[in-house]
Amino acid sequence: MKRIVKAIVPAAGLGTRLYPATKSQPKEMLPLGTKPVIQMVAEELTHSDVTEILIITGQNKRAIEDHFDPQNGLRPSDKAAHRSELFHTKFARFYYVRQSTPKGLGDAVLQGASFAGDEHVVVALGDCAIVGKREPHLLARMIESHLQTGAQATVAVQKVSPAKTSQYGIVEPVEQTETVMRLRDVVEKPGPQLAPSNLAICARYIFSPLVFDYLKRGKPGVGGEIQLTDAIRAMIRDGHAVYAVPLAEDERRLDVGNFDSYGRAFVRALLEDEEYGEGFAHYVQALAAHLRDPASPDPDLQ
Ligand code: UTP
Repeated sequence: MKRIVKAIVPAAGLGTRLYPATKSQPKEMLPLGTKPVIQMVAEELTHSDVTEILIITGQNKRAIEDHFDPQNGLRPSDKAAHRSELFHTKFARFYYVRQSTPKGLGDAVLQGASFAGDEHVVVALGDCAIVGKREPHLLARMIESHLQTGAQATVAVQKVSPAKTSQYGIVEPVEQTETVMRLRDVVEKPGPQLAPSNLAICARYIFSPLVFDYLKRGKPGVGGEIQLTDAIRAMIRDGHAVYAVPLAEDERRLDVGNFDSYGRAFVRALLEDEEYGEGFAHYVQALAAHLRDPASPDPDLQ
């Protein structure tokens, strides 16, 4: 199989769970620490040599195109241009296609069918970064596994608590090793009683072009949306090989989907930032102490 160099990055969702913050700006442009989350996604891709990146955009998403435009008003002599982490993605080529009505993740991925052509592609959700210092990084491990197993689909999975299975697609693995597992089924948002495992599909996928046939046939499901999980499930049912690669113990998903996960992701990214992390860690500790006990000094008055 050929190397995998193309990615589809869905970023056309309305982000209604983050209103009013995302009423007229893309949630994918919300910063995690110093960078927009979608930039972290692009860096993850180029880090694994995936350099042809199709972003699925829609209403109010133009800021994403401006962001990845290497010119974007900055001259090479500008200090900001040098600070800009855009240099990590300078070897990438960005393409854009609009999903005019956000009819679900499956429909967003389908917009990338001609871009993919006859090649296997990565699908990386634009509102979610996978961070961790481990090498090879999750995406590189997924690509390696996908090529080795000859799979039609490979998904990333992470452990979730029983209380959270109803928020995710949960996989049913067979033939499990520590690094890869073949899947027997995927269940969309089951309660803890019905969940076949505690492993949730997690924002990164690799597909053969076969997925587009399944998505085209797919009927709108929950909320009138075309679900990617339904296509994966149908592929498994038809006997196609679908595998999952787990996040490592020290890898984390930073997701801006709702205020709870966005708040956590922002704080984590900021506190782990090489330049600002240490200073903010002191600030956050002092602020938390002050808010618990007003007698403790307010760090904003120092
Ligand atoms: P989400 O389902 O979390 O995004 O999709 P959403 O629809 O924007 O969320 P809410 O419920 O309104 O808050 C995960 C990723 O898939 C993209 C989103 O932009 C996000 O990056 N997406 C989702 C699309 O590109 N198109 C869609 O129709 C739906």
